[in-house]
Amino acid sequence: MHFAHRTESFTGERLILRTMTEGDATQTYAEWINNPEVNLYLETKSATIEELIAYIEQKDAKDDTLFFGIFLKEEGTHIGTIKLEPIEPEEKKATIAIMIGDKEQWGKGYAGESMQLLINWCFDDLGFEKIELGAIGKNTAAIHAYEKLGFAEVRREVGSVQYGDEVHDHVLMELKRPV
Ligand SMILES: CC(C)(COP(=O)(O)OP(=O)(O)OC[C@H]1O[C@@H](n2cnc3c(N)ncnc32)[C@H](O)[C@@H]1OP(=O)(O)O)[C@@H](O)C(=O)NCCC(=O)NCCS
Repeated sequence: MHFAHRTESFTGERLILRTMTEGDATQTYAEWINNPEVNLYLETKSATIEELIAYIEQKDAKDDTLFFGIFLKEEGTHIGTIKLEPIEPEEKKATIAIMIGDKEQWGKGYAGESMQLLINWCFDDLGFEKIELGAIGKNTAAIHAYEKLGFAEVRREVGSVQYGDEVHDHVLMELKRPV
């Protein structure tokens, strides 16, 4: 099963997820990535619009990746991104990653809602058995959000990530398909 160039969209109670296109590489999106509060536990710490366009194109070209923008359903405002990469149909699993880039929108359950849409799709439509993700150990906001969705820690790679002078644990979490 190949996912490249496959346009998918998902509609939730308050959000719409749709495939990212070049037009979504806005100054606002670049500012999220460049914001030290947003990028604190992200690998990417800076981006220009050109780099974002290249990133969107790179994700679009990959057979095993779907990269979505997260948009408020009513206003259409872009508030973040969510990605399945890699999608591994043979293994019946996928890896998920999320960023709610607009800080004003934190704590409103939007990470939970957008992740649940993709989790349901993976389990109910694709018949997958497992969703995996990684987080920095200190990223309590993310870990709390993931635990609320049912993810559990399966491995901790102590001191395996370095951002500048700081060394962090990498926490691997997974969610098994409910029985
Ligand atoms: C981590 C992140 C995705 C959470 O998104 P969010 O939309 O604010 O999360 P939700 O509102 O869906 O929160 C779900 C749960 O996590 C909790 N939570 C969210 N932020 C929290 C924080 N800063 N501290 C503690 N708990 C937090 C919520 O309270 C909620 O639990 P509750 O209903 O029991 O209160 C968002 O802060 C973000 O994108 N940060 C920057 C990028 C990033 O770190 N991405 C994750 C990389 S692994």
